[in-house]
Amino acid sequence: MSTHIVWHDHKVTRADRAEPKHQHPCLLWFTGLSGSGKSTIANALDVALHQRGYHTFLLDGDNVRHGLNNDLGFSDEDRVENIRRIGEVSKLFTDAGLIVLSAFISPFTSDRRMVRKLFPAGEFIEVFMNTPIETCEERDPKGLYQKARAGKIKDFTGIDSPYEIPPHPEITLDTSSQTVEECVESLLDYLAERKLIL
Ligand code: PPS
Repeated sequence: MSTHIVWHDHKVTRADRAEPKHQHPCLLWFTGLSGSGKSTIANALDVALHQRGYHTFLLDGDNVRHGLNNDLGFSDEDRVENIRRIGEVSKLFTDAGLIVLSAFISPFTSDRRMVRKLFPAGEFIEVFMNTPIETCEERDPKGLYQKARAGKIKDFTGIDSPYEIPPHPEITLDTSSQTVEECVESLLDYLAERKLIL
């Protein structure tokens, strides 16, 4: 970090921004293999929250890699930097009072822990998409598993690059056995029980 920089507190707080929307800022962090349903469930929850009048924002792996992170690839080093940036951006959006949904493979436990540490207790909600790799590979919506198996994509998560299973996720979902509606319902219940939505 540079020296001689000073933090400025803002006059309008995150609570000031969130309260009129009857919500508490938080980050739902969807992690899991490609094809596990991260984007599908995050999008469906985003729609459900939006329809109920909450102020949300969705950050998604492929999309963020088109812009902010278009200088990053899939080496371990680049994935760490990818998640570090997303964590910081997610924090900025929660400072704006929003409920943020971030959907990234985020394969390393230490990186997810790094993001968790940016947030007050209870505001980082790790959602582990525990869909079996066999199902993800069968779905193969972008044909990437097939390419990885053929050696046409290197460092593909779950094939020749690791995915570290979250040891203590707040929520675990499996889209091979739960419907989109069931997943959304359990996420809404979680948010309501903890008064993150009112
Ligand atoms: S990471 O590991 O968190 O930095 O990855 P992320 O930013 O979420 O990007 C994952 C999407 O990039 C596509 N893709 C790959 N994924 C994994 N490994 C390799 N080598 C790779 N190359 C491209 C893929 O479409 C991922 O999207 P999802 O939505 O997960 O299927």
